[in-house]
Amino acid sequence: MALLIRNGEIVTEGSHVQADIYAENETITRIGKNLEAPPDTEIIDATGKLVFPGFIDPHVHIYLPFMATFAKDTHETASIAALIGGTTMYIEMCCPNRNDDALEGYQLWKSKADGKSACDYAFHMSVTKFVKETESQLRQVVADGTASFKIFLAYKNFFGVDDGEMYQTLELAKRLGVIVTAHCENAELVARLQQKLIAEGKIGPEWHEPSRPESVEAEGTGRFATFVENTGATGYVVHLSCEKALQAALAAKSRGVKLSLESVLPHLLLDKSYAERSGVEGMKHVMSPPLRPKHNQDVLWNALAHGSIETVGTDHCPFDMEQKLLGKDSFVTIPNGISGIEDRVNLLYTNGVNRGRLNLDRFVDAASTRAAKLFGLFPRKGTIAVGSDADIVVYDTNYRGVVSVKTQHTNNDYNGFEGMEIEGRPSVVTVRGKVQVRDGRFVGERGRGKLLKREPTHF
Ligand code: URP
Ligand code: ZN
Ligand code: ZN
Repeated sequence: MALLIRNGEIVTEGSHVQADIYAENETITRIGKNLEAPPDTEIIDATGKLVFPGFIDPHVHIYLPFMATFAKDTHETASIAALIGGTTMYIEMCCPNRNDDALEGYQLWKSKADGKSACDYAFHMSVTKFVKETESQLRQVVADGTASFKIFLAYKNFFGVDDGEMYQTLELAKRLGVIVTAHCENAELVARLQQKLIAEGKIGPEWHEPSRPESVEAEGTGRFATFVENTGATGYVVHLSCEKALQAALAAKSRGVKLSLESVLPHLLLDKSYAERSGVEGMKHVMSPPLRPKHNQDVLWNALAHGSIETVGTDHCPFDMEQKLLGKDSFVTIPNGISGIEDRVNLLYTNGVNRGRLNLDRFVDAASTRAAKLFGLFPRKGTIAVGSDADIVVYDTNYRGVVSVKTQHTNNDYNGFEGMEIEGRPSVVTVRGKVQVRDGRFVGERGRGKLLKREPTHF
């Protein structure tokens, strides 16, 4: 069925226009004033509302065997949560560990999503070791349409790569034209500091941050940037959390290193004091890099406003309270992760646009357009234009609500952002021309999501 969205204010990066959008066969085919449509067209009145391109979360974990357990969501639950919050596409980290075969891992991650997601999706392929067969395996993954890699400098002996493996990954990525995303913390320092703190009897979640201080992230960020520089590759730092790491990244960018930066919702809105709460309350807020002292938040928001931090993801990674309690005797074994896929857009709009920290252009760019451009999805995704997929968010800026576990769709028994106010939410969300969400309710087709094939673009 065709779709006509009437009379909204269409906001894309760099343009705001009052117009109608007509979509047919999944694609936007006309944009203009007073568009006519055939009688059986589904008509949505967007008067008084903002109309955004579908939002893209470039960093989520859905299927994730990690820290002796599994992240809680499935593609079914995560995609519905994402859509209710206005995210019409996510990029999941495909994370086989060092002992797994990379290609088998890739097939496994694909099988977990296949036919289950209600929104479109893609993968970043993690490279967690570099052995004889790695190059040919990664070539097959790229040929299959997964044109971005992920490396972890942290999580020694599990996901983590050493410097040699980082070099080989970046060097291959350069030849293939593939961007490399990286979790930047010095694994050796984390391991040593963890041991030291535990030996001193410092076992609670409040010690997680001191075991991975800002300097440890800054070192990882600077080292990754130096390797990107010397291989000529294109890099993307995920979940940059603090001023020191930002300085390391900006120093590299100022010498021309091809580096993009992402921050994630928890680091923008939550601080170290959340993880210092006692018992499981603190454990709920353990992720890596850790929540930081509060002064870092202004630094991140400023960098985001100016575009030196380009994207905002979530690092969505839900573990429930029982799982978090795996770390009751030692912060080292608390499963790392906080969810956010459902709340990213509303909390970013509220705390960014409505608090005067982000203009609407940067908001749309950071939450949608830039990720589409960096990861080979633009202009199919990330904009509202003739020829683009009809992924559209009609946004009600008058809505008022509160983030709560009681109303969330993410599969978890708490919400790390509990009680935060939201000023705005999607009233209609479409995926390739089909209405999937109305006013906080999923009304669409489960399993509609497609795995999107992407071409390498970073030569
Ligand atoms: O704590 C986190 N971030 N958990 C997910 C894995 C990762 O490092 O992204
Ligand atoms: Zn990470
Ligand atoms: Zn992550």
